[in-house]
Amino acid sequence: MAGKYVIRTYGCQMNEHDSERIAGLLEADGMTPATGLDDADVIVLNTCCIRENADNKLYGQLGRLKALKAARPGLQIAVGGCLAQKDRERIMERAGHVDVVFGTHNVHRAVDLLHHAASHGPIVEILEATVRDDHDAFPSALPVRRDNDHAAWVTIQIGCDNTCAYCIVPAVRGVEISRPFDELVAEVEHLAGEGVTEVTLLGQNVNSYGRDLTKRRPLFADLLRAVGAVEGIRRVRYTSPHPKDLRPETIAAMAEVPAVCEHLHLPLQSGSDRVLAAMHRGYTAERYLEKLAAARAAVPDLAVSTDIIVGFPGETDADFEATLKVAAAAEYDSAFTFIFSPREGTEAATMTDRFVAHDVAVERFERLRAVIDRSARRKHAARVGIIEEVVVEGPSKRDPSVLTGRTRQNKLVHFPSDRPLRVGTFAEVRVTDSASHYLYGELVMVTAAARHKTRIPVQAG
Ligand code: 5AD
Ligand code: SF4
Repeated sequence: MAGKYVIRTYGCQMNEHDSERIAGLLEADGMTPATGLDDADVIVLNTCCIRENADNKLYGQLGRLKALKAARPGLQIAVGGCLAQKDRERIMERAGHVDVVFGTHNVHRAVDLLHHAASHGPIVEILEATVRDDHDAFPSALPVRRDNDHAAWVTIQIGCDNTCAYCIVPAVRGVEISRPFDELVAEVEHLAGEGVTEVTLLGQNVNSYGRDLTKRRPLFADLLRAVGAVEGIRRVRYTSPHPKDLRPETIAAMAEVPAVCEHLHLPLQSGSDRVLAAMHRGYTAERYLEKLAAARAAVPDLAVSTDIIVGFPGETDADFEATLKVAAAAEYDSAFTFIFSPREGTEAATMTDRFVAHDVAVERFERLRAVIDRSARRKHAARVGIIEEVVVEGPSKRDPSVLTGRTRQNKLVHFPSDRPLRVGTFAEVRVTDSASHYLYGELVMVTAAARHKTRIPVQAG
């Protein structure tokens, strides 16, 4: 298929990774990236449904595309991802100008479906997400078009077997399926051979990795060790672990494997034991803080981030105060904070008699943000004077003479450079200043040139 494509991705890293696969398929089919919506022949929206505003965003975007399609009837619009998996035909009903709807379990079909729609008209194809031995679940042989040559995502598991009362993911992404251990290690070896130095292992609940594998049941910790031992891989990250399943073996692997970065994303969700129980999270605030303390004791210089929801049904002032207290005690480096959003089909969406008023939730959200920002600023200020290893990610968005790098703790550092450094370059940067979301620094020296083949020159000066 000749022509140009655009992919718009909403939601999490899993979706970003799926978009890389869709791009890979489109390019293998002869398409090239468009510069924007206006010169695209194919527009793919890869959707998210975790909160309601994700739905609103998609239907808003589809509304705007209607005029484009009317002006250029040859344009094809495809909608994939979680919201497509959930809403299925409803997407076509609400937006009749959509050509293809595909889900989370048939990403590999995206191009075939576009071809089919071109000759036969609009099509919805969704595969059920409930089959344990789903061999198509990991279309690992698919081409992938990565935006970055030095860093890659590796999906180690799909689906989720938990029953968090607020969460739509298990209903959409289905049961937990782990990808075979040897296949994962082989993929990382292959990536390293292509010049990748950093991998992020992805799953909804990475610490239960391997539980469903029948031949041998490796632990997530074994995977961290095996991936960390692959020659050429200098940084290993992962997301997300569930606090109830965070085992000492994982913490030990983090401490002992040099490549595993000093960053732990440990979703708290609430600091109230009553709310945690209602959410079915399987831990208390005290147990959470104990696990965090164990991780910090084992891994020096560990940065910690989290997810927290305010306004879960029935959350009282006292529950919220407990969340503030735990968040302050946890001293987070950063946090994703959310206002509870009822998702049809989840247990929490039925608790309508206990819904928290929106203005109360907004006020709680702001108070929580202030607590998070305070610890983030403190954590960042404590980095001033330290020489950090950074990997160059590109020019800073605001000023092309300033480069942005990422530290092992997953913090961004902006630093001026009088020479262009390629994306993926390892450098040492002395931190000179800090803010709540960033660090500022000065280049000390380049320690390793980018290993990848494609040259992406970074403008400086
Ligand atoms: N409302 C608000 N936040 C939610 N999350 C998941 N479901 C909901 C919901 N219904 C948040 C959780 C999760 C993160 C990915 O999104 O904090 O960890
Ligand atoms: Fe959702 Fe809970 Fe599974 Fe995370 S662990 S994906 S919050 S059900």
